[in-house]
Amino acid sequence: MEIKNPQTGSADIDQLQKYAQDLAEVYNSEKEKRKKLQISEQQLVKYADDLNKTILELKAAHKELQEAYLDTIYRLVLAAEYKDEDTGDHIKRMSRYCALIAEKLELPAKEVQNILYAAPMHDVGKIGIPDSLLLKPGKLTDEEFDIIKTHSTIGAKILAHSKSKILQVAEQIALSHHEKWNGKGYPQGLAGENIPLVGRIIGLADVFDALTSKRPYKDPFPVEKAVDIIKQERGEHFDPDVVDVFLENIDEIVKIKEEVVSA
Ligand SMILES: [Fe+2]
Repeated sequence: MEIKNPQTGSADIDQLQKYAQDLAEVYNSEKEKRKKLQISEQQLVKYADDLNKTILELKAAHKELQEAYLDTIYRLVLAAEYKDEDTGDHIKRMSRYCALIAEKLELPAKEVQNILYAAPMHDVGKIGIPDSLLLKPGKLTDEEFDIIKTHSTIGAKILAHSKSKILQVAEQIALSHHEKWNGKGYPQGLAGENIPLVGRIIGLADVFDALTSKRPYKDPFPVEKAVDIIKQERGEHFDPDVVDVFLENIDEIVKIKEEVVSA
């Protein structure tokens, strides 16, 4: 049967067929595009998945590397402390006291972390001090004490010229942790704020831990007695601001002390 235009009455089946053909082409082309888009989307999802996996693997590798790095530091420190009466627990307590004080002094989180990791290395220079002096039970002569004092400069030399921020902080700590606020410390006799803040923090934490720990020549002092000594040394041995922050947070300090108990 012939299809006619209602107005013209003429047959235009060819025209209709052409429209139908064009429409089919457009439909097929759209279908093809959609298919390609779907494949692209699936590929993107796969890339994102792979990327996520790679990031997770990298993070795990980074964490493992950091743990190995910190473990190496810890063992190096133990090697130095092994010669001394100090124990691994002293290192752990000290580092946590220091990090707590640094945090309460509102230092940036990254610096607090650096101090936590660097503090254990403060006495690493003891590796260069003869055992006969470090373990001497009696009182040291002035000459012997002068030799002991060199552990700060020896430590700084061992830790010098590192690209690692943690080791840079550790070098600063090793060199300055026996300086005193009044300028009567060693090795440089620095006073006040000329002493790096990390050295002032470690200096206080180190003394507090020594006072409250057992030594061959003394029993541990009670916290109250150690606190009294520290109060007396405010502005003398110790930075007054660091002492204030330490005293304000003494409960947390004692909590750390109780958590890390010598075997
Ligand atoms: Fe020291």
